[in-house]
Amino acid sequence: PPTFKSLFQNVANPPEKIESVCGWIKSVRLMKKMAFVDLQDGTTPYPLKVIIRRDGNDLDSQLLKQLRTGQSLRVKDALWKPTPTRQQPFELEASVSSFQIIGQVCDTYPLQKKYHSLAYLRSNPVLKHRSNYLGALMRFRSQVETSLIRFFNEHDFTKVSPPVLTSGDCEGAGELFRVESNSRLTDKSSYFGAPTYLTVSTQLHLEVLAMALNRCWTLTPCFRAEESDTNRHLAEFWMLEAEMCFVDNVQDLTMFAESMFKFVVQQCLLNQAILLPSVIPPENADDSETIIARWKSLLASEWPRLTYSAAIELLLKQHAIEEFKFIPEWGKDLKSEHEKWLASHLQSPVFVTDYPRDCKAFYMKQNTDNTVACFDLIVPQMGEVIGGSIREDEYDTLMQELSRRGMKHNDLEWYTSLRQNGSVPHGGFGLGLERFVSWLFGAHNIRDAIPFHRSAGGSID
Ligand code: 4AD
Ligand code: MG
Repeated sequence: PPTFKSLFQNVANPPEKIESVCGWIKSVRLMKKMAFVDLQDGTTPYPLKVIIRRDGNDLDSQLLKQLRTGQSLRVKDALWKPTPTRQQPFELEASVSSFQIIGQVCDTYPLQKKYHSLAYLRSNPVLKHRSNYLGALMRFRSQVETSLIRFFNEHDFTKVSPPVLTSGDCEGAGELFRVESNSRLTDKSSYFGAPTYLTVSTQLHLEVLAMALNRCWTLTPCFRAEESDTNRHLAEFWMLEAEMCFVDNVQDLTMFAESMFKFVVQQCLLNQAILLPSVIPPENADDSETIIARWKSLLASEWPRLTYSAAIELLLKQHAIEEFKFIPEWGKDLKSEHEKWLASHLQSPVFVTDYPRDCKAFYMKQNTDNTVACFDLIVPQMGEVIGGSIREDEYDTLMQELSRRGMKHNDLEWYTSLRQNGSVPHGGFGLGLERFVSWLFGAHNIRDAIPFHRSAGGSID
């Protein structure tokens, strides 16, 4: 059967009769001679209206009375009725003999036409995606991923698939999930003969691949045993990571990241009619007008760049006017409250560059003043969405940095040896997909931007 999306796209050239359409009943209203059924099939933000007419005998009305919200339904031989004066340009009309209930529904089916809060929907992970809002969010995420694929293809990047099982902690933050095996051949923790972890970032392997492919990218699940249980942290999230050779300065990287971000926004604007939810959004979420206004404003100008030192100066000035919970101090990482203030003060996404080296990971290219050639992209309300850097490409400097941090050289030999074999200046970044998607969509909790969220203390199916 045709999807609703294809029917709505065909409005200019409608068929007279549609052999079959299938979907789930969103709501049903029973009248004396007919039933008004709102069907959804998951491909559009709005339902398809179907009028089912009875011929007038009692059996007909018995059949119509069986219709319930949540049932799956097939409607055959429906007629196409234009409704130019209404919000939806057409509806379907069918006779009572032409519908068939495919799947029944429990009496306790929890999703009714009334408004459901996000907290309530999250408590029902199996059915929640059928809600108008969360269904729209999943389609939106898919659109964002599709746009990213296009962007990287257009810039000659190779899509790669780095491993998820790793031996090390790329970011050095100690937030690892350790993996054990149930194999009878080895004891639980020595399947690979060494401790094994789920990856926190695929960057190191991406650097290996970039040295062969020049430009590569991936979209991979990453895992962090975060201690912070906030609306911006997941234990399992998807990271887009890009790595490119022959770039030697942060400004070029930020320009590239900005053009990627803006490309996705342009695609969102082009597809807005099919992307945005058709109902008033749930608590705390932005409505469609606010979302579109944000997308347009993102494209209006080039985003500001600020060094970390300049950011600290601004934050200290603000601290004198209205105190932050944490005092901004050169040498300490920016807290989420500082990031949020900076971006809302500048009313724009902002690139903060050149952080002190002790705030960041071991692999970043060192500047001459104890800072590193890195950037974070910070957006209003959310804070950091992208983190990236130029990588240290000189063998001796990298080895000294490992020693300074007390890291074992042996463990990373596979990685550091890259600097001895045709090393080139290179850099890249990682974007948290759920942060990106939820921020663009005006959803205030990134848990809603992933189908099944895993976070500290939560249950897992
Ligand atoms: O800033 P991070 O830690 O950078 C890296 O891991 C680099 N190795 C990436 C690279 O250069 N290839 O993480 C990158 C992004 C963050 O900006 C954030 O958007 C997201 O990943 N992120 C999380 N998203 C959801 N839940 C978490 N627990 C996250 N931790 C990081
Ligand atoms: Mg970061």
